Amino acid sequence: MRRRSVLTAGAAGAAALLVGGNSAKAATVRPAATLQPAAPGDMPWASASLRDLAARFGLRIGTALIPQDIQTPSYAAIAGSQFSVVTPGNAMKWQIVEPTQGVYYWSQADQLVNFAHANKQLIRGHTLCWHNQLPTWLTTGVANGSITSAQLRDLLHNHITVEVSRYRGKIWQWDVCNEFFTDASPSKLDPTNWWIVNAGPDIIPLAFQWAHAADPNALLFYNDYNIGGEDGTNAKSDAVYAYVKQLLADGVPIHGVGNQGHLDTQYGWNPALLRQDLERFASLGLKVAITEADVRTFVKDATSQVPTDNLAQFAQPYEYSEMLKAALAVPECISFTVWGFTDSDSWVPGFFTGEGYAGIYDVNQQPKAAYYALQSDLALGAFGAPRRVRTYTPFS
Ligand code: XIL
Repeated sequence: MRRRSVLTAGAAGAAALLVGGNSAKAATVRPAATLQPAAPGDMPWASASLRDLAARFGLRIGTALIPQDIQTPSYAAIAGSQFSVVTPGNAMKWQIVEPTQGVYYWSQADQLVNFAHANKQLIRGHTLCWHNQLPTWLTTGVANGSITSAQLRDLLHNHITVEVSRYRGKIWQWDVCNEFFTDASPSKLDPTNWWIVNAGPDIIPLAFQWAHAADPNALLFYNDYNIGGEDGTNAKSDAVYAYVKQLLADGVPIHGVGNQGHLDTQYGWNPALLRQDLERFASLGLKVAITEADVRTFVKDATSQVPTDNLAQFAQPYEYSEMLKAALAVPECISFTVWGFTDSDSWVPGFFTGEGYAGIYDVNQQPKAAYYALQSDLALGAFGAPRRVRTYTPFS
């Protein structure tokens, strides 16, 4: 008798999500650990969540979240059941947590931390030292000279100490420094970066030291885009590799490198380079992670997000799948995070004119081909290829 394939929705109380199977039937809730191996011809993974499949080999699947989105029950059910790690998309950025100097606003970050806790999810803290989304009081003060370079360094020290201490023991990985390198070839630390200009280049090792002092158990990451083969030349990845190698030689407490993974189907991309780049960072003794995966393409309009090119339906899931497979091939890669999971909560339409369709769920919260591509890649990792049921010998 064929067994029916069913799996838990993960967290207690979260609605089980049916994917890829007979959506008229309800899924039976069963803990991930008891997910049974396949009988020949069976597909025990057909309704399995991404998080449960990946849990079988120790990978965490994540998503960025903003508090407004988890107010919608159907959205929250997917967020809680498909993912095992959460990145606050904006809620932990300096602009949000200290909008007025000395006045802290933790409500959004706390909501996401509580959501993650309720759904047995880990948290990637994002991000402590970045040139964007800084509070206006800070950028204005630096611009008009009322905040000196020395004061700026003290303010960052304080910001990191306050925020990291507040969530001490609750954050698995922190993106300590974000996007410090130039995109040109050869790449280097960006001399025009706001932090480099105003605080000096040693702000990077200092930020890691301050974060480590505030939470010695958090994994501290350097995070950037175009460091996984996206630029073709690998110039930026080479520069980041040389830089983090030096940080390690200097005894700086850095534990990982995050590759954001923002891809666009209009550009060529060599997934073999991503794997090599991840392996190269790992060879330094670092963890690696895909931290902000999405794959955008041109769309007819920002509401429906239907691709203008029919081939995007194939290119988009293909690039997701190649990204995940590179991550799966590198055991030091501990998490694979998408930057929002539906097309409607994606940052892409607001930031890339005419583009969208970047998520793994559509604007109606339905799983797309990219979702099923990730699910079947994870299923292969979880179960291996199914065994042949008969041996066919040609010419015998
Ligand atoms: C984006 C958010 O998704 C937007 O909502 C916000 O307006 C701008 O920032 N790289 C990063 C993320 O490290 O923090 C950015 O997130 C996307 C690019």
